Amino acid sequence: MSGSICTNYFARLAADVWKLWKEYQYDEAAFSDVALRMLTEDPPADQVSFLDVAKFGLFTNPLPFQTDIESIFGQPPLTVHWQPEFRIEVLFWTSTVIGIHQHAFSGAFHLLTGSSLHTVWDFKCEERVSSQLLLGALDLKKAELLGVGDTTAIIAGNRFIHATYHLDRPTITVVIRTNSEKNHLPQYSYLEPFIAYDPIHGNAGVRRRLQLLDMLSSTGRDEELLDAIKCLLDDVNHHYAFIYLMEAYKLIGDETKRNLLLSWAGSKHGSLAESFRLVLDTQEQRDDIRRIAEKIGHGELRFFTGLLRNIPKSGEILKLIRERFPHEDPLTMIDKWTADLSRYDLSDLGLSAPSLMQPIRELLDECGPSTNPQAGVNRDEDNALVSKSPAVEHAAVVS
Ligand SMILES: [Fe+2]
Repeated sequence: MSGSICTNYFARLAADVWKLWKEYQYDEAAFSDVALRMLTEDPPADQVSFLDVAKFGLFTNPLPFQTDIESIFGQPPLTVHWQPEFRIEVLFWTSTVIGIHQHAFSGAFHLLTGSSLHTVWDFKCEERVSSQLLLGALDLKKAELLGVGDTTAIIAGNRFIHATYHLDRPTITVVIRTNSEKNHLPQYSYLEPFIAYDPIHGNAGVRRRLQLLDMLSSTGRDEELLDAIKCLLDDVNHHYAFIYLMEAYKLIGDETKRNLLLSWAGSKHGSLAESFRLVLDTQEQRDDIRRIAEKIGHGELRFFTGLLRNIPKSGEILKLIRERFPHEDPLTMIDKWTADLSRYDLSDLGLSAPSLMQPIRELLDECGPSTNPQAGVNRDEDNALVSKSPAVEHAAVVS
């Protein structure tokens, strides 16, 4: 029965979207407002459940046309309505992190189940390496918690750069969106502290080479892997060099080998290689916290590690703790969570307690003297960057 609930609801939603959009002459620039209004006036969270939608996907025959079959956005994404002009998707999220990105489509998303940490960013390009690789200033504009029933507009292009970190498993979002707006390509992804790049989802050749590098790594061909990456770095443009170096960082943990690759990259790609190093090191710090978050599961510690992973401003972190725990002192909560985290054995992740504690120490330093007697910053004036060093170094690189 639940399948028919979904069939009827999503058909109604699509018909209402089409009818309202007609009033705007089907202008893509108006689609965000249309989608936002429909998801607010007839919200999915009031109509269908997690299992209703899962059963719709499992048992509806035939299914609507399915896009993103490789499940890049969603685990999996399920298209519940498709027509040439727009589609409705239900995205099941079982992993936590969706990196900072923009969209080449317009629409809105609605939280059906779960909760998310949502951040909105601003990027000012300072150096255009190519249309696929930009360097600039990436700054957090807003951080908020999203819960069931919340709806957010998606504006195509760089006016809406955002990231989501899902706190519950699964978190499920319903998205009403245009299919594609080519004038807003490339659909940049962003990495702190200062890179925007085309993630080349559609480039089959590069993606296959990345898979082959992964194969060499998983079969223990370490020397061949190193040689292959060096050869690839020889012949590619700066953008692809960055893509291959990102993969190298995932596959090769040894510092000596990484340094060898980066100095090789420097000989082929100049000072950009040093910028790449700063971005990749920052990303690895974030990724360590993500792996810790996935190990510890759900609850308050997931929330805390999510803050450390995603929010580079201590003032925003304190604001979100107050919002989620309005009757608690945020600094006391941080003390408690820090003590709880220190009891975890992280050796299976190849991490040590100091690597975990570094971002917490930096946070406490900025939060004020009540938690760290050596810190001299007023807790009401804190909105400084948690991870200062890469941004400071970046200023020297791009200037
Ligand atoms: Fe998004």
